[in-house]
Amino acid sequence: MKLKQRDKKHLWHPLKQHQTHPESLAIVKAKGCMLTDEDGNDYIDAISSWYTSMFGHCHPYIIEKVSNQMQQLDQIMFSDFTHEPAIKLSEALITILPEGQNRVFFNDNGSTAVEAAIKMALQYYFNKGEKRSTFIAFENGFHGDTFGAMSVSGLSVYNGPFENFLMQIHRISVPNGENISDILSRLETIISSESVAGFVYEPLVQGAAGMKIHDADGLNEILKFFKKHDVLTIADEVMTGFGKTGKHFASDYVETKPDIICLSKALTAGLVPMAITSCTETIYQAFLGNTIAKGFMHCHTYSANPIACAAALASTELLQTEGIQNNIKRISESHKTFEKKIQQLPKVKSTRSIGIILAIDLNTNANRYGDLRDKLLSFFMTNGVFLRPLGNTIYIQPPYVITDKELQNVYRVIEDALIAF
Ligand SMILES: Cc1ncc(COP(=O)(O)O)c(C=O)c1O
Repeated sequence: MKLKQRDKKHLWHPLKQHQTHPESLAIVKAKGCMLTDEDGNDYIDAISSWYTSMFGHCHPYIIEKVSNQMQQLDQIMFSDFTHEPAIKLSEALITILPEGQNRVFFNDNGSTAVEAAIKMALQYYFNKGEKRSTFIAFENGFHGDTFGAMSVSGLSVYNGPFENFLMQIHRISVPNGENISDILSRLETIISSESVAGFVYEPLVQGAAGMKIHDADGLNEILKFFKKHDVLTIADEVMTGFGKTGKHFASDYVETKPDIICLSKALTAGLVPMAITSCTETIYQAFLGNTIAKGFMHCHTYSANPIACAAALASTELLQTEGIQNNIKRISESHKTFEKKIQQLPKVKSTRSIGIILAIDLNTNANRYGDLRDKLLSFFMTNGVFLRPLGNTIYIQPPYVITDKELQNVYRVIEDALIAF
């Protein structure tokens, strides 16, 4: 029996309505930019498997480092012990993270990185004897699926059944170059009546919302406002981190730096799950004291798993190589050329790109989660390209190692789709 038949017996997939979409494609191999299914069909992974495998799948350098680590030390608790892979990774990350970050706390995935950041912010004020309970976040943000992360997320399609159980959040518009004074006056109103602990935001690009790009100067004004009012700023760089926007971190485009940063996805280059919540020394210092309760009582069993740390260290090294940095520039320039080429097509409503991220909004009245998205997805797969439209937005986030030929192939299939639908 084929894998896709056996799958149906016991498995329950995430983000899926099994009644209308009973089948899942069985992938048996992934190498570089290519995925191969059980029937031997190849697909270019044009979204790097949810923006994780940025150096291509099964990168030999990362595999070598991970295999060596597996022979040496596989897993050890991180509450009483430490180890070299975690130490080396913290040292490497602090040199590339935006200015001010000095402490690295380990989690398992993007949602728990955000969850820890929220708890860190709440306890930071609690430890200082201040009761702060409210958070502020952007409209249409996405920060993950645990309760704190869902609370700060603004995409209701994911959160509907849980809305009555979420934290109180104030939502503000993203800055668009014209609305900053409205945003700031709204913030003044909120701050004057609420004790705000933190502002959680996806810097510059809102991924799940459809790779929506906002204004860096406006974001800077918002961050300056929060600094002035002693509100902690939490940058969720789970999607944007490690080169996607053309700089190592999206926060590098903004003058005012965050207090806390959430990292995952490309952190381990798609090899194994891991996440990090980093913060400034000031935040860390607020957790020091003579009682255990003043410390951060938050832990995941696999915190700082040595194998995951080895993968993250290897990918951090790769990111900084000239070859990868040149590839990021090359992809970014190709995206701009492609944007110009398709902008006038009647099916194209608008396009945008930053770094290796390119998004195309379709000119359609179709429901965001309707048939069109499914039809496009199946068209792309039939034509050998794995692209997963977000509603009526087609986006590309290819691995940095994608060749020109593969990238042109992805563009060609998108152009075909823009003509066929
Ligand atoms: C910006 C952002 N934050 C958090 C998450 C949640 O990460 P995870 O799926 O690893 O829990 C995602 C996932 O797409 C994301 O894009």
